[in-house]
Amino acid sequence: AVSFLLITGCDQRGPDGEQVDPKEKIVIKFSHVVAEDTPKGQAARRFARLVQQRTGGRVEVQVFPNSTLYKDGEEMDALQQGAVQMIAPTTSKLSCLAPQWQLLDLPYLFENKEQVYQALDGEIGKKLFATLEPHNIHPLAFWDNGFKHMTNSKRPLVHPRDFAGLTFRVMINSRVLEEQFRCLGARATGLPFSDVYSTLAARQVDGQENTMSNIYSQRFYEVQPYLTVSNHGYMGYVVLTNAAFWRSLPPDIRKIIEETMTEVTLWEREQAASLNEKNFKQIESSGKVKIHTLTPPERIEWQAAFTPLYRQFKPVIGNELVEAVLRMKN
Ligand code: LMR
Repeated sequence: AVSFLLITGCDQRGPDGEQVDPKEKIVIKFSHVVAEDTPKGQAARRFARLVQQRTGGRVEVQVFPNSTLYKDGEEMDALQQGAVQMIAPTTSKLSCLAPQWQLLDLPYLFENKEQVYQALDGEIGKKLFATLEPHNIHPLAFWDNGFKHMTNSKRPLVHPRDFAGLTFRVMINSRVLEEQFRCLGARATGLPFSDVYSTLAARQVDGQENTMSNIYSQRFYEVQPYLTVSNHGYMGYVVLTNAAFWRSLPPDIRKIIEETMTEVTLWEREQAASLNEKNFKQIESSGKVKIHTLTPPERIEWQAAFTPLYRQFKPVIGNELVEAVLRMKN
């Protein structure tokens, strides 16, 4: 099934969505790019186990972690063409389908997780979901990871000026993330997640931004001696299924999947918080990394450096969406 896939872009074809035979076993291939011992990896496995139990084995969810089946830049096409039935990319990676998703990449958009959930579980989440309708994609849930932090191999990053001349890996498809680094006087290059460790280890880029669970599980901290706890941007996931496949499922199966997804989503949020905390302690105690936590005045300096991004991207993301978040915070 791999050979007909396009490697980049977001193709809009999919299967016809013919009704599944009520006795036929249903296989859901769930492909993702992170390690198993991460919030997304653990939630995917839990979802698979519960759905299998609750459908009496009628639905089998096969989870493929760590880009073993498809990597960034491939998994969206694989989903749209029906080669897999579920994926859970970061929201940033959906910007290739609809630019509105870059909203969530704006640095310091959210102060804390409560604000994130208020936005995603409310009208803002609904508006973002609606952008996927024309793309043969049916969204099922927002999963959490956490706030991103900066790592690099060159020097401590305390003030915006410390970024001058450095090159950073960013997630694919998001112009906001590329421009974020330009605001700091650095350069950015979009790379698939599966290539990040080797690129950092070979010193082809100087740094990257990620959550503690990804920095730990991908061993970035072993090749990035400087970590700034900056909490500068949110990284979350959207669990997606192929819309034609979804319509083809019997209503009772759809109901079990939806209910299980709601339950696993709550569990996943707790898991994300505790794993990120645990992984931070493990990075700290490895002794391999010099850690700096931004002080409140330093955070204000970083926020000021990012201000032009809001002006630049409001017309791209949509004034209404950006304002809706800003209003929600006041
Ligand atoms: C990354 O590409 O840095 C992350 O999005 C990977 C992930 O899915 O958490």
